[in-house]
Amino acid sequence: MEIEVSAPGKLMLFGEHAVVYNRPCIVSAVSSRMKVKLEKIPTGLEIDAPQTKDFRFVEEAVRIFKEKYKTNGGLKIKTQSDFSSQYGFGSSSAVTVATIFGLSQLYQIPLTKKEIFDLGYQVTLNIQGVGSGFDIAAAVFGGVLYFLTGGKTIKPLSVKNLPIVVGYSGIKADTPKIVKSLKLKIRNNKEKFNQIFDKIAQIVEVAKIELEKENWKKLGKLMNENHHLLQQLGVSTKKLDSLCQAAVSAGAYGAKLSGAGGGDCMIALVSENKRQAVESAINKTGGKVIKVNPNAEGVFNYLIN
Ligand code: PMV
Repeated sequence: MEIEVSAPGKLMLFGEHAVVYNRPCIVSAVSSRMKVKLEKIPTGLEIDAPQTKDFRFVEEAVRIFKEKYKTNGGLKIKTQSDFSSQYGFGSSSAVTVATIFGLSQLYQIPLTKKEIFDLGYQVTLNIQGVGSGFDIAAAVFGGVLYFLTGGKTIKPLSVKNLPIVVGYSGIKADTPKIVKSLKLKIRNNKEKFNQIFDKIAQIVEVAKIELEKENWKKLGKLMNENHHLLQQLGVSTKKLDSLCQAAVSAGAYGAKLSGAGGGDCMIALVSENKRQAVESAINKTGGKVIKVNPNAEGVFNYLIN
């Protein structure tokens, strides 16, 4: 029997970094997906993953799954991503979730979404040592989620439209490294950082309400404020700042970096009549507009042979 599943990547909308410190965030699953094909073989583990990073996540997901559910026999697993891992869209979380879901299908062990999340989050922690698990949640549940550290709350938001433009800064960010170095900075100035995190959490709470109301003007303002607070955390870069500035000057409601910072992508909220202008402003400022749709479906099964 052969199983084929796919899980989506993600984009952080509000609340990055603060979510590592017991605050909420809002994340959207994106249309770029990771496909994983799984097949039982008599013995061994054969993984065919073009990216070395994906290989480690698949291997750990299999190890944890086998240990927990005491499954026997060998496995052949092949990954295929339709997005470049350099954009920071969460190929590791997508491949982890797709592998766990695929294994549950292959061995016919029904798992709830929360059980898939818990196993996937364990894989992230075992490999990276840090992380809130927001990306794992996006890959499992899909859509737009209000998420609290470690999955203490995972609440799907009812968001129909999300008119964003995504701009890649040209630099690949090393998320675990940035999270760890911020942790060291926080040690010396807990009060200052807690204040920033509390302000970010307030933004997330307001954004959660305004997203469902499609109040783009207000959301744009919240994005700008969130970006400003990320600058204060010291995780933005000149390039990300200039891309956000260019987007706002071209008529975006607001813009912010998305994810750990240090590179990867920024997002801008736009009205349809300003989309073109914002996209060309991002490209002119040395960014690269990435065509990706938010609000994508969570992990699913699309082939059983
Ligand atoms: O760099 P990304 O897109 O994987 O986002 C990281 C978000 C952080 O809040 C900095 C870390 C986390 O695990 O929540």
